[in-house]
Amino acid sequence: MADFSGPTPGAEPDAAALIAARPHLNMDPAQGLMLEGVALVDIAAALGSPTWVYGAGTIRARFRQLRAALADVGLGATQIHYAVKANDHLAILALLAAEGAGADVVSGGELARARHAGIAAGHIVYSGVGKSARDLRHAVSEGIGQINVESREELAMLSAIAEPAGRPVDLVLRVNPDVDAETHAKITTGLAENKFGIAWDEVESVYAYAASLPGLNPLGLAMHIGSQIVSVGPFDAAFARMADMVFRLRAAGHTVARLDCGGGIGISYEAGQGISVADYATVMARHLGALGLQLMMEPGRWLVGPAGVLLSSVVLAKKTGNGSFLVLDAAMNDLVRPAMYDAWHGIVPVAAADVAAPAVPVDVVGPVCETGDTFARGRLLPPLAPDALVAILDAGAYGAVMSSTYNARPLAAAALVDGNRWAAITPRQEVSALWSREVIPAWLAIADETGA
Ligand code: LLP
Repeated sequence: MADFSGPTPGAEPDAAALIAARPHLNMDPAQGLMLEGVALVDIAAALGSPTWVYGAGTIRARFRQLRAALADVGLGATQIHYAVKANDHLAILALLAAEGAGADVVSGGELARARHAGIAAGHIVYSGVGKSARDLRHAVSEGIGQINVESREELAMLSAIAEPAGRPVDLVLRVNPDVDAETHAKITTGLAENKFGIAWDEVESVYAYAASLPGLNPLGLAMHIGSQIVSVGPFDAAFARMADMVFRLRAAGHTVARLDCGGGIGISYEAGQGISVADYATVMARHLGALGLQLMMEPGRWLVGPAGVLLSSVVLAKKTGNGSFLVLDAAMNDLVRPAMYDAWHGIVPVAAADVAAPAVPVDVVGPVCETGDTFARGRLLPPLAPDALVAILDAGAYGAVMSSTYNARPLAAAALVDGNRWAAITPRQEVSALWSREVIPAWLAIADETGA
């Protein structure tokens, strides 16, 4: 099993290398760390910390880079449905929609969000292993573009909903190609033992079943083998299998017009990881380019991950008998990836003078009452005083969306930078909002002074 724990301490890229590898970051000698054209210190001064900061220009540039890579190999007609789960902020959905992206959603909530952000129902595909009858009714009544069906059981449920609606529902079957994505076990989705998709040797019979049911219009196949895939090998293997399945289904007389290639393109959290989208597109074209298919993909992390940082302040630097800890005001409830997957995220001081100072190893932790609330172990950072700002890098995907309010910590604020301008896009949650949905039953209510 691969893990995300990163390079051995000491071999890690330093702050200057991390900044240099990210075109949207820049260390200004006077203003400190800039994201696109905005000083992060200005955002912290206005909104406090912890605060998510996303670069709109960066997301747009990445979307265009992906489009161009596809066009360069003759796949310019590929439809890109942004995987909303990576970062579902309305502003991000709106900006990607303006670039021409549709949406890949996995819940009624994500469907409603995508619609609210202005994405046409016809440009939305609905994935997910556990869509309920209610979810499917919602999707059908919205006029969803495509449903990626994951089981025989779901087909029967969908047919029963679609038939009375009187308009056949376009669907593809998500197959499980049984390919090892060579990523973290918790985000591998395309192995036979995983819960996702239709088992490889059942695909032909399930396709025939789909074609036999009223109200359904089976148009092709979908796959998703995992996330944060850092070499093209697994895609190479999976696309080859999918092409083979397209031939087999067509030979059996089925229409196979669409193929949804999933997401999963890894990014470089450290140095030298990640896949070039040009290499990815080349592999896609080699296996799938000549099959006369409407190709689709549903990337999340690659589009938005590198474009975001979590801006945090130092609470204090603490020395104990055995350790040296830098306690931040951000915690695992904000960014859970290090605690959940041992994920490695770059951490960079925001002040130029701090970046220039000699670095010493320190454990970077949050204030939550769990040892797992650790962002990095033995990370080389300069000594940082209380209130010094740091940016936790590559936090644009699977960051804010996975936040909780554990330890009664309100959800962080968020800002969107776009070139030289920026706007607050989410205010910090009020503490009182933490209990605003809670009710104390009358029989537990504390008696007032009169004893009534
Ligand atoms: N489509 C489907 C059906 C998916 O399950 C996923 C991600 C995507 C698309 C988008 O994949 P991406 O391009 O972002 O790799 N929370 C984890 C990642 C979980 C990904 C789950 N599925 C993390 O923080 O690493």
